[in-house]
Amino acid sequence: MKRSKKIKGVTLALANQKGGVGKSVSSTNLCCAFANLGLKVLLVDADYQGNSSAQIGIKQQAIDLEKTISVAFFEQKAAESIWLKTKFDNVYAVGADQDFSEFNNSFLAQPGSHGIMRDWLIKAREEFDIIVIDTHPSLDLTFTNVMVAADYYVLPLFAEADSLDALRVMFKNVKMIKDKLNPTLHVLGCFVTKYDKSITVHRMFLEAIEKLGKQVGMPLLGTVPFSKAVPTSCAMENPIVHGQSKLPISEAYTRLAKLILPELKLNRRGRSPNTPALDKDTLKRFRKELGDTPSLEKMPVPSLVLEEEMHGL
Ligand SMILES: Nc1ncnc2c1ncn2[C@@H]1O[C@H](COP(=O)(O)OP(=O)(O)OP(=O)(O)O)[C@@H](O)[C@H]1O
Ligand SMILES: [Mg+2]
Repeated sequence: MKRSKKIKGVTLALANQKGGVGKSVSSTNLCCAFANLGLKVLLVDADYQGNSSAQIGIKQQAIDLEKTISVAFFEQKAAESIWLKTKFDNVYAVGADQDFSEFNNSFLAQPGSHGIMRDWLIKAREEFDIIVIDTHPSLDLTFTNVMVAADYYVLPLFAEADSLDALRVMFKNVKMIKDKLNPTLHVLGCFVTKYDKSITVHRMFLEAIEKLGKQVGMPLLGTVPFSKAVPTSCAMENPIVHGQSKLPISEAYTRLAKLILPELKLNRRGRSPNTPALDKDTLKRFRKELGDTPSLEKMPVPSLVLEEEMHGL
């Protein structure tokens, strides 16, 4: 497959302090979608649960070969010595295991501990077009490391009651990291996973997320539909985008990758940290393609919740 020449060594983090919102499923599917678009991709599983490296099929191999992210950090092994080729063209991955849960305790007191992952990924930036980092659901040293290593950030979340809270919390934390540790970090926006437009509450919260996202600079990029095929694809270690490209969920991930990709081509070092990564026209174009996002006028908005959240910011 022909590789894109326009982007190189960009890091993209998927994080949400809330668990089970689709970070891992989205990471693996976005990796395959980016590879389908011609990029050489590295998935870094920075979650001791090891879900994304399992879903992409290399977790056990990484453990057997002692080439996990834990070995890399605890035995000071270079990234290039532990990343593994997956069965998917142009997709490589760093696997994680339970031992990685010791990362926070082990490095907390070390000077410069927030920059460990950033430094560790220097060689990977030369080798890969894009590095996608999956995280565990927590705001700890691992999270800070991922966000310091990241050039771009997307927030996956549900269209449910506590998602507004997650949006608010993540906004505050990312802003803090941007202000203090990584001024070139760009927030691309958020996207709603497991979305079912036939559920009224999902439509209502999608509206609320869109409004709040606009206010805090985390624009809604789109929705990924609920799909019964996900558990099987995870168990079969075969991300849906790869195996079942015609399903609506695969199309949604491909659309998301296509939306994100042109933004990553921009030279991040040349852009002011305060400039939003996504311009209005790109967003408008994507929203038009998306089609299933209800218009603000038509849908009821849980305004009480929304106002409360906005004042909290
Ligand atoms: N679009 C979807 N449709 C149906 N099920 C989904 C979808 N996306 C994710 N899931 C399921 O939801 C659960 C959580 O997904 P996932 O593991 O990706 O979340 P996570 O945010 O990475 O979780 P954690 O915080 O524990 O790392 C999994 O069982 C997964 O199979
Ligand atoms: Mg996960």
